[in-house]
Amino acid sequence: MNRTLAIIKPDGVSAGLIGEVIKRIEQEGLRIVAMRMTKLDRRQAEGFYYVHRSKPFFNSLIDYMISGGVVLMVLQGHDAIDRWRKLMGATDPKKAEAGTIRAEMGTSIERNVVHGSDSPDSAVYEINYFFKGTDFIE
Ligand code: CMP
Repeated sequence: MNRTLAIIKPDGVSAGLIGEVIKRIEQEGLRIVAMRMTKLDRRQAEGFYYVHRSKPFFNSLIDYMISGGVVLMVLQGHDAIDRWRKLMGATDPKKAEAGTIRAEMGTSIERNVVHGSDSPDSAVYEINYFFKGTDFIE
């Protein structure tokens, strides 16, 4: 049993894909144990993507992540990190496996609809970045 952070990014929210993404999460049998819709400010987005601060795409990524609403979710289940990564597909929609969210709905390596934690350590950091204990339904 573990937890992972999922984000529906501004391109997914503005394209009306919230329901489609949540449907796939629930059909996979992952439980949403905390959820919030919000708009990130620059400081929040920079802190969240701190590990990417020296990458050439960092400034563009931050501008994109604060350009509209996002849905933040904590998913729980056996192997939640890997199962959510499988549903998302590879970072670059062009390389993502057919049938995945990013392959079907992503428009570029940046505008790839969803985010997921990539390891147990990053899941702990990312979940605690946005949620506190009383936010969880279980
Ligand atoms: P995500 O899984 O949220 O992790 C970092 C994000 O940076 C990634 O999804 C993309 O939105 C973006 N990203 C990663 N690599 C690139 C790249 N080479 N060019 C532009 N954006 C990228």
